[in-house]
Amino acid sequence: MKSLKRPYFYYSDKRKIVPVASEELHIQARDILRSIRRKKIFKTIPKEYQDDWKNVSLFHTKGEIEKADSIILDPERGSYSLRNKLNHLEGKSWTKFTKSWFVFDALSKDLKEEKEITTKAGLNAEEHPATYSPSMMEDFIKFFTKENEIVFDPFSGIGSTLVACDRTNRTGIGIEINKKYCQIIKLRTKSKVIHGDSKNVKKLLKKHKVDKIDFCISSPPYWDILNRSTGKFSKIRSSKNLDINYSSFEEDIGNISDYKEFLSILSNIYLDIFSFIKPGGYLVVIVKNLKKSGKHYPLAWDLAKNLETKYSLKDEKIWCQDKVGLAPFGYPFGWTSNIVHHYCLIFKKDE
Ligand SMILES: C[S@@+](CC[C@H](N)C(=O)[O-])C[C@H]1O[C@@H](n2cnc3c(N)ncnc32)[C@H](O)[C@@H]1O
Repeated sequence: MKSLKRPYFYYSDKRKIVPVASEELHIQARDILRSIRRKKIFKTIPKEYQDDWKNVSLFHTKGEIEKADSIILDPERGSYSLRNKLNHLEGKSWTKFTKSWFVFDALSKDLKEEKEITTKAGLNAEEHPATYSPSMMEDFIKFFTKENEIVFDPFSGIGSTLVACDRTNRTGIGIEINKKYCQIIKLRTKSKVIHGDSKNVKKLLKKHKVDKIDFCISSPPYWDILNRSTGKFSKIRSSKNLDINYSSFEEDIGNISDYKEFLSILSNIYLDIFSFIKPGGYLVVIVKNLKKSGKHYPLAWDLAKNLETKYSLKDEKIWCQDKVGLAPFGYPFGWTSNIVHHYCLIFKKDE
């Protein structure tokens, strides 16, 4: 290239992204990039690309410039499609997330961070008996939203989803029934938390002037599983003066002991959220199948069936925990599993 300082047009050669050979095509690509800079679409592309536009190039797999609708910042990372309406991911990261299972155990960096922030204020994040890591939530949020979009968690706990929103530059909104957990959320994030009962989700969102949600993700109480935990878990937590369940409030759906009633109330909360989700937006519910007194209750499957009355069930991503102690269930008589996987059920509100 004689007259240009750098390449402006790339294509794919044997799975590697490389500059095309023709200088004429680079000049054309530079002009196309200049025109994109002035178009509406510019505002929808990742901020990182906008901020570093002088280093962005155009891309087409076969090097056909008239069909080029992707851009690249770093050829190693792959290309970002200008037609991407869902998120800010490049093709490589998009594909990586679509694997139907993943292994994730709580990250010590997340635990350390939540401990430091809460201890300073005389609170204890460990009090909550069932949290997940913001790092795990970040991956979901990055796949199902673009920056600045609105993410809602109706069962916020101590705010892992909302912390992930801060980290990824999304607007987080949550509802949590336990005031003590709301206080912890307020220490951890600048996202909005509503102290209230998600059974009143419609009223609460209206009251707080939320009329559109881009993406909803949450992990509800797994029925009354915590009220039934005996043995090591409750002994250790009691000895440390930590909560064994979420609360003793009647409104806490983790205190409903009848399965059918629990399933119906939980389903209705997610069905109520439907009208707030934008057309084309997604709902992810992280939940488990359970056992009670030796009987199997397929909570994840039952919930999926109920929510299909409004949402399209896309499928699931299975979350596996690997660093969990196993108990000798069933031994030596028959099969009873140690359930160490969760269903991340993925629903869509069709356009
Ligand atoms: C599995 S935990 C969520 C944990 C959260 N994902 C985190 O990482 O911190 C479920 C939460 O739902 C809350 N909850 C139970 N019933 C509720 C209700 N009716 N409305 C709002 N929150 C409720 C519980 O207090 C508990 O914190």
